[in-house]
Amino acid sequence: MITELAKGVYWVGVVDWDLRHFHGHELSTHRGSTYNAYLVLDEKAALIDTVWSPFAEQLLSNVRELCDPAKLDYVVANHAEVDHSGALPAVMRAAPQATLVVSPRGRESLEGHYHEPWSFRTVRTGDRLSLGAVELAFLEAPMLHWPDSMFTYLAGRAILMPNDAFGQHYATAYRFNDQVDREELYEEARKYYANILTPFGKLVAKKIDELLALGLPIEMIAPSHGVIWRQDPLQIVHQYREWAAQKPEPRATIVFDTMWEATRRMAEAIGRGLGAAGVPYRLFHMAVSDRNDVLTEIFRSRAVILGSPTLNNGVLPTLAPILEDLRGLKFQNKIGAAFGSYGWSGESVKRIEEHLERCGIPLAAPGVAAKWQPGPADLQKCEELGRAVAAAVLAP
Ligand code: FEO
Repeated sequence: MITELAKGVYWVGVVDWDLRHFHGHELSTHRGSTYNAYLVLDEKAALIDTVWSPFAEQLLSNVRELCDPAKLDYVVANHAEVDHSGALPAVMRAAPQATLVVSPRGRESLEGHYHEPWSFRTVRTGDRLSLGAVELAFLEAPMLHWPDSMFTYLAGRAILMPNDAFGQHYATAYRFNDQVDREELYEEARKYYANILTPFGKLVAKKIDELLALGLPIEMIAPSHGVIWRQDPLQIVHQYREWAAQKPEPRATIVFDTMWEATRRMAEAIGRGLGAAGVPYRLFHMAVSDRNDVLTEIFRSRAVILGSPTLNNGVLPTLAPILEDLRGLKFQNKIGAAFGSYGWSGESVKRIEEHLERCGIPLAAPGVAAKWQPGPADLQKCEELGRAVAAAVLAP
């Protein structure tokens, strides 16, 4: 349903209730998503961002309720990723006179994706484009989260449209943050940040400082996914600043896989040690856990404790995606530890410890390996490992 955000500014996007995986199957989206596109009707008409290609007709139908797409003067593409640009070919066919407004890297990316001779207008930070009473001002935001990413600010309406930044994969019947459950909203916003923006924390912090230093009046922050921040809109900006600082909570995440329950019993014993020392923890069996949910929990936690039995001189393959993400997401300010059972060669603990060190995650304590099923002494060592990690977590 079309929603008016302010005079002449409309949400004309799409709610994708069914979406359960995004980026192909890379990112889980348990609560669906939205592709937010905004129409500004002034002396000139501008569409800001489009939607994923399966929803192109729905977007155009929304636009048609308010104006003839052929009358669009501008289409602003803040970001070229397909969930926002997929409908561009259909939109540009319907609006052949429209100029496509993009960052320099956006042009390169859109040309690479679509190979169409569209009429581009390239804008940089500080450039402005008058629509009449409303003026669009542009702020490049490279690596938030692609090189082309750009924010558009609607001067005259005090609305910031930052595309992916401050978004959430969150399908709801509502369009604004004050209409939805705050816990759900922050769960999805944190998952989005943790899984997509974590590696770019320094750039996020810098861009937020730059944005706040501009001192722009901001009545709303209207991202390209999820709900629009209308009530206390800067709350999510300040939250991003905190997330970018990566000051994790005093908690631990235990991630393991197991074949015959030996490594599970070790994981549970480590958890008992953490719990006894007053450190909250969660335990994830990777064979049955959602990778992105686990990464979100690791993002929050000071300690990550990884366990696997030894298989083929290494770890169980179900651990491999998490190890790869620990490298790629470049988590900061973590401490780690390893554990696992083995029958003969027993390399898993060493492999995990080597990997943690490569990821810049120092070991809080030496790992624990147990031959065959852990006996009482092995489980005691696991509890002690939990206590040692807890002491490091709680250390000032
Ligand atoms: Fe929502 Fe980077 O696309």
